[in-house]
Amino acid sequence: RTFLSLMGAAALTSGAMLTGCGAGSDDDRKIVRIGHVQSQTHPDHLGLEAFADHINEKLGDKYRVEVYPSELLGSQTEMVQLTQTGAIDFVVASTAIMETFSAKYQIFNLPYLFSSVEAYHEAMDDPEVTDPIFKTTSKAGLETVAWLDAGTRNFYTIKTPINQPSDLKGLKIRVQQSPTNVEMMRLLGGTATPMGFGDVYTALQAGILDGAENNELALTDNGHGDICKYYSYDMHQMVPDLLVANYAFLEGLSDEERAIFNEGFEIVKQVEQGAWEDAVAEAKDKAENEQHVNFIYPDTAPFQEAMAPLHDSVLAANPELQPIYDLIQQHNAANTAD
Ligand code: GCU
Repeated sequence: RTFLSLMGAAALTSGAMLTGCGAGSDDDRKIVRIGHVQSQTHPDHLGLEAFADHINEKLGDKYRVEVYPSELLGSQTEMVQLTQTGAIDFVVASTAIMETFSAKYQIFNLPYLFSSVEAYHEAMDDPEVTDPIFKTTSKAGLETVAWLDAGTRNFYTIKTPINQPSDLKGLKIRVQQSPTNVEMMRLLGGTATPMGFGDVYTALQAGILDGAENNELALTDNGHGDICKYYSYDMHQMVPDLLVANYAFLEGLSDEERAIFNEGFEIVKQVEQGAWEDAVAEAKDKAENEQHVNFIYPDTAPFQEAMAPLHDSVLAANPELQPIYDLIQQHNAANTAD
């Protein structure tokens, strides 16, 4: 089904794919493969294309960066595994999927972790917050090199408008495959249905799901707004997407190359984040006017109250996260929402 399965597992294990040296080719540049789940118009893809241009321009004699969108290389979980083994070099992964590779990522999946967009951005740009998480998964073969904006996640449903937590009772809501997200739904009284992003559209269409939760781009880019007509701004999560690298690949770069890759990581971030706000505005406009999605603005306080116990349980299970959590609270205090 996927590009990789079409290429055949044999090619992968034989190393032909790893080095990028096609039979009979005298091109010994290493092909750097980056996989992600989004469309080619999504800010993630635009950022990665700019990254590819930068590396291909500066280090084109040794590397050729190729960006594979739309789950071409597999689901997000599969692509993280491929990155872990070095079959591909980078993946854009959500903090939810990363949670299964390192429990530390749970912190970012806590609902209402950040008090405002400003606090969220400032905290994510603070290496004291991110380094202890991003740079300590080398044993798992992975290192996060940049965070990308993925907006705010909200509930959306086919038939039932969500105005308060009790409206979720008995509804089957798709969540990402992460224990924190499953627990979040349990606290709200809904039925969590974890599945990969690429399967959500069909599951909504088949009526296996009553709804899902995501940022606005899922309505348009992924067509969920064709089926779900109620989008409720309960604002439960501001979660970044992460550019995650194969650790051995990073370690194998010379100092000069690493400096150029580091510039590239800054470029992905800037281009992606720079494109985010407009992409959301455009998605919202299209959802409202073409897909006829109703946007609902419920009181967020009851949602926040219902999900609050998750902060305590995650911190109790992972005491090493407490200092990072406290630092985030400082960013919150310095950037309170109006
Ligand atoms: C967003 C996010 C992805 C994630 C997806 C999902 O699109 O950017 O990284 O995979 O949501 O809900 O699975």
